[in-house]
Amino acid sequence: MRNIKTDFLIIGSGIAGLATALGASPYGEVIVISKDRPDLCNSTLAQGGIAAAVGKDDSPREHTRDTLIAGAGICKEKTVEILTEEASKVIERLIELGTSFDRTNSGELALGREGAHSLARVIHRGDDTGAAIWETLFHKVRGQNVRFLTETRAEELLIAEGRCYGALVRNSEGVRRILARNVVLATGGIGEIYGRTTNSLLSTGEGLALAWKAGAVLSDLEFVQFHPTALATEENPLFLISEAVRGEGAVLVTEELERFMPNYHLRADLAPRDVVTRAIVSEQKKGHQIYLDASSLGHHFEQRFPNIYAKIHSLCLDPRKDLIPITPAAHFSMGGIRTDSFGRTNIQGLYACGECANTGVHGANRLASNSLLEGLVFGKRVAQTIAESLNESHLSTLDLTDQGTRDIPQVLKPLDLNDPRVVTLQKLMWSSVGIIRDEAGMTEAYKALGQLDREVNSSEGELRNMILVAKLITSSALQRLESRGSHYRLDYPEIDPTWQPKHLSLRRHSA
Ligand code: SIN
Repeated sequence: MRNIKTDFLIIGSGIAGLATALGASPYGEVIVISKDRPDLCNSTLAQGGIAAAVGKDDSPREHTRDTLIAGAGICKEKTVEILTEEASKVIERLIELGTSFDRTNSGELALGREGAHSLARVIHRGDDTGAAIWETLFHKVRGQNVRFLTETRAEELLIAEGRCYGALVRNSEGVRRILARNVVLATGGIGEIYGRTTNSLLSTGEGLALAWKAGAVLSDLEFVQFHPTALATEENPLFLISEAVRGEGAVLVTEELERFMPNYHLRADLAPRDVVTRAIVSEQKKGHQIYLDASSLGHHFEQRFPNIYAKIHSLCLDPRKDLIPITPAAHFSMGGIRTDSFGRTNIQGLYACGECANTGVHGANRLASNSLLEGLVFGKRVAQTIAESLNESHLSTLDLTDQGTRDIPQVLKPLDLNDPRVVTLQKLMWSSVGIIRDEAGMTEAYKALGQLDREVNSSEGELRNMILVAKLITSSALQRLESRGSHYRLDYPEIDPTWQPKHLSLRRHSA
């Protein structure tokens, strides 16, 4: 088998992966691999923006406060402080690199409002902020010591002497080992496990499966955020109607034009996402159809949200006068590969950042527009850490010839999201481990997932990984005997203070 050697291997090409690549490239050779085209990631789908306390009445302390409240008591406060303190530097650097954020008439950065923020602090570029930032970073990274291997899937992490030394990867040229002094997982989210999602088609949780199989600790997996307002169509992924639209004044209504959010929360339509999502489900259970009424925005809608406007228009609706049909959709995994505030996992040489990591900044429910920020802040911190630890790794002295050669199927069956077994998995997760859960439903789902696993053969690695991640989420959700943030159980409907300090961690053989 062919080996490639590099200093840093980054698995994933979203904003977190690119921020790491940019920071690490002055210190050594970097390889970034992506399962498909590098731009096909959740980062480029992010509409709303990036939160930073740059407004004159704002401060990192206020931003921290809102993040902790949205996180429902289980964020790591010190790590949140790092996030909010770094935010304004991240914005300055992006502007230096060429991202042109929207500005007011007087030239200040325009600040948008989103749910659970106590004031406007979301910096944006129209309604495609993620794509704007991604393009800036990609352009910059391309000029550095960074090689991209696209349409390349990591199948296994290489572990020797308790340390991660690379990955076994596969692409159209076959299987090979990439041996690296440091490996960074930046593989993004898990939305496709739920089917109804705003995430890219590649968001099947592969990074979590890779990490778990290598012995890394995963934590807080029970916390999955469901965005309240995806456009209600039959597409996959579902098109997001950014929370920023509500931030500009749109409101949720029933088919009878009744507003209902004021009955559920003081912040009404800008309550934390988990509250808004459950309120919608509750209204749907009463038999209502739920819509977004954005008519108050008038012509401003088209100027401020050109892509959303075009999408809605393509359905022959005019958001300036027609109601927009919406549905909640799986949007973000707060849990993931447990890391410290430098992105270090429990395995030496293995790091994680971005959505696949569990740094502790999001707690039980992520504050809107903190995810691009997290990817950028912690991607950079991982880069600094791996650059500093470069000399600790002794790649050349190890015999790695046996690594990753066991049981490699010659041919792999690519994942087909229309495969009936995938559809079954998604339906199980949506109905039993989704927005509203209980023990009976989750226990049944866990059993059914086990049955599905038995129907999959070893050449179906991606499907196997999806089932594994679904089981790990279900197992965590079954164990947390309370409701907190995005994790809502009918059989334990209240928050239980005795659970506050607890984080559910899973490691191989414990699921
Ligand atoms: C949105 O624009 O509503 C999504 C932003 C986010 O998920 O933080």
